[in-house]
Amino acid sequence: MADGGRDLLVRFGGEFADVLIERARGSWLETADGRRILDFTSGQMCATLGHSHPAILDAMRDAGDRVVHLYSGFISSDVIGLARDLMSVLPPALSRALFLSTGGEANEAALRLAKLHTGGHEVLAFTGSWHGMTAGAASSTYSAGHRGYGPAMPGSMVLPTPNAYRCPIRHCRDRCDLTCLDVGMELADAQSTGAQAAVIAEPVLSVGGVVPLPEGYLASLRRRCDERGMLLILDEAQTGLGRTGRMFAFEHDGVAPDVLTLSKTLGGGLPLSATITTSGIEQDAFDKGFLHFTSHVADPLPAAVGRAVLDRVVTEGLAARAETLGRRLRAGLDELQTRHEQIGDVRGAGLMLGVDLVRDRESRTPDTEFGTAVTRRCLELGLNVNIVKFPALGSILRLAPPLTISVEDVDLGLEILDRALTDAREPSAAAGGRHAAAR
Ligand SMILES: Cc1ncc(COP(=O)(O)O)c(C=O)c1O
Repeated sequence: MADGGRDLLVRFGGEFADVLIERARGSWLETADGRRILDFTSGQMCATLGHSHPAILDAMRDAGDRVVHLYSGFISSDVIGLARDLMSVLPPALSRALFLSTGGEANEAALRLAKLHTGGHEVLAFTGSWHGMTAGAASSTYSAGHRGYGPAMPGSMVLPTPNAYRCPIRHCRDRCDLTCLDVGMELADAQSTGAQAAVIAEPVLSVGGVVPLPEGYLASLRRRCDERGMLLILDEAQTGLGRTGRMFAFEHDGVAPDVLTLSKTLGGGLPLSATITTSGIEQDAFDKGFLHFTSHVADPLPAAVGRAVLDRVVTEGLAARAETLGRRLRAGLDELQTRHEQIGDVRGAGLMLGVDLVRDRESRTPDTEFGTAVTRRCLELGLNVNIVKFPALGSILRLAPPLTISVEDVDLGLEILDRALTDAREPSAAAGGRHAAAR
């Protein structure tokens, strides 16, 4: 086997990182050759409680002793329990849940519900969106993956990503006045055949460059959906379960969606997702014969894990913790910005922060090469931060450690990032080696 066995695998997103992971616990990973890596991406943004949290392992063992998987027409007490637990922290209108495995699947179900309920098929999504790789979700994923796979779903349309640091319509600078939403809606209305079904949106665009929706945007979007009879679908794959400092990011704006999708953070590392809607939409879809069978719909074991994750987020006050630690991380990044010219912008919410690396602060030209060098150097030094990889955005570091991370590890991550920013700027002066804590 050449390349340590990597030649046996399909490369699904560029080359694999040059490490082999043997173990993951809490906020730390351990490689086969004994190196430690502080994980500032919570795995693939899923390890809400950190890796292999005892509550998750207990839930898996307990469910394993009882029931793991069932015929799709059967339900288990854990599935009812998870629905009940979620509804205890959601607005009362969101009262019906469907449990699936991945974020793409949850969005697929949300879009199918919206189409069946409204009778339309036109769906708007942000230019910087990522909603998954299944056909419907991928049709509404504009940050990457459109070229080479044939036609998207008819009726798929974009809305400009309201990024005030790089205004999509070259109108604002640093403060979005929502003109991009006016323009986007005008364009969508002009293209519409009278079959508008939904807008699907992330409250903080992640792959799109860690862009929180500007103040007032979600309320305005909600109103515009209502005016057109479109459903508002919020995808809280990354933002749900406390990450932004609230249980759900939509709480910051006091705007509830018609359909909410949860995934990544809900399973804490296991494949679990949810599509949650109102009883009115559920009833209408049911009356119209809503069909969304999958092999793992409503599986008991992941539901038991979801209950354990949610329980910990609630009982340990992890949303408030994300806010407090997020403030500390943010302050540290703001301080780094005063010393590193290449940091053009720091943004995000709670423990979901982005660092926008630029060639110079005036032009704000993304510095992809520098971004790649910084992440590579971080990994050498023992910190995993992930860069948003796509061409227009290959310069934005995404920082989203587990909500259980210690204060010391937040500070350590900042220390390593500081050194990586310096070393990547002056590679010849970089002294190799690893950070002491990561040896
Ligand atoms: C906001 C958002 N929605 C949906 C998805 C897709 O989830 P999955 O990869 O579990 O299908 C992702 C994955 O990155 C995501 O970031």
